[in-house]
Amino acid sequence: MSRQMKLGAFLMATGHHVAAWRHPDVPANAGLDIRHYRHLAQVAEAARFDALFVADSVAAPTGDIASHMARSDHFEPLTLLCALSAVTEHIGLIATATTTYNEPYHVARKFASLDHLSGGRAGWNLVTSDAAAEAQNFGRDQHLGHAERYSRAREFHQVVTGLWDSWADDAFIRDKASGRYYEPSGLHVLNHQGEHFSVKGPLNVARSPQGQPVVVQAGSSETGRDLAAQTAEVVFTAQTSLRNAQAFYRDLKARLADYGRSEDSLKIMPGVFIVVDESAERAWEKFEAFQALVEPQVGVALLGRMLGNFDLSGYPLDGPLPELPLTDSGQRSRQLLLTELAGQEQLTLAQLGRRIAGGRGHYSLVGTPTQIADELQVWFEQGAADGFNVLVPHLPGGLEDVARLLVPELQRRGLFRTEYEGSTLRENLGLQRPANRFQFKQS
Ligand SMILES: Cc1cc2nc3c(=O)[nH]c(=O)nc-3n(C[C@H](O)[C@H](O)[C@H](O)COP(=O)(O)O)c2cc1C
Repeated sequence: MSRQMKLGAFLMATGHHVAAWRHPDVPANAGLDIRHYRHLAQVAEAARFDALFVADSVAAPTGDIASHMARSDHFEPLTLLCALSAVTEHIGLIATATTTYNEPYHVARKFASLDHLSGGRAGWNLVTSDAAAEAQNFGRDQHLGHAERYSRAREFHQVVTGLWDSWADDAFIRDKASGRYYEPSGLHVLNHQGEHFSVKGPLNVARSPQGQPVVVQAGSSETGRDLAAQTAEVVFTAQTSLRNAQAFYRDLKARLADYGRSEDSLKIMPGVFIVVDESAERAWEKFEAFQALVEPQVGVALLGRMLGNFDLSGYPLDGPLPELPLTDSGQRSRQLLLTELAGQEQLTLAQLGRRIAGGRGHYSLVGTPTQIADELQVWFEQGAADGFNVLVPHLPGGLEDVARLLVPELQRRGLFRTEYEGSTLRENLGLQRPANRFQFKQS
């Protein structure tokens, strides 16, 4: 069968558009409504999406502008996905968990547990935290700097995956006759001692159905790409143009050889913000209805956050984007992308804030199923993407539109599955089940 694209449904409470919660079709309390999420999961699964994807921040935005956004209360991703694992059967469940304000044992344990709960559908989106405010919830005044976050992330990944291999696949024999619950020779104690962590192990969860949950990564700076080349199996990235996306794709795939990995072992999935309707006119009307609800200061506050945690409230709304230092606390790749966009199109601060109010700088498509499928097909066939993480302006409506209108068009073109290939996230993504890295003396 010819290569097909992978699709993630990037869920976010009321939707990705910063003003979505104010729209009459959107339940404003969606962030903490399990029925809302259950519906989203079932819509995405019926459409054969590879996975649900949930981002995270371990801090609540506060202040006057934050009080105009629906971003200060939402479910914690792992517990949410555990609940959704019970009402779905096929779809992958990818939760974000930061390596900056967590301990590896906790993360290894919880994701292994989700992998068991869901029958092999867990994925871990490994991030280094791009919200500086998180520091103050974890005993620090200042967020860790970019380089240190990545150094910690690398070792964090090593420990987590080491813990996931604590047990041979068949270590738990649970033999009632002999009274032996596990085979001692199938146990590996990690005894990790490193710069950031000291973790003895083993994990108190048997090796999980996928061997290891799928590791997703979402940093795109130089350091982020290098970590991804070494450790990630899926990369989520923000790209604004085909040319940039192709360059990113080529660069990241080329780095895999340095780590002895094949190009197939890493799937690159740019985010794409989609507003689809039967006619282009209606799709644009729908999009503009959200845009009309954006308060300029809210757009600019979102912009400041996405540029890497800058307060832009002192700058004139109709002036240009000010020169900012390279962010140490936020996403360098997104800072570069948004600065480039402002320069290329000569946008004022308010215009740029409005521009990113929906897709936060991700590639944005508004149009008919044919128009959108044409664009996705080009990216997919011309070396820019293995699939897409789909962002929609509002939920549940935006996802229902994609499932009803766009997915059938992609299927008609043979670009997307009509049935799940396997029962685990790995099988559906076309990723191998990793062998245990430790040698066990079992027969
Ligand atoms: C597309 C994308 C999505 C991201 N999602 C999150 C997230 O949900 N939570 C988070 O703390 N960081 C997130 N990050 C940031 C990562 O933590 C990243 O490791 C860090 O900001 C550094 O990014 P950089 O390598 O692009 O500088 C995301 C980054 C990108 C590029």
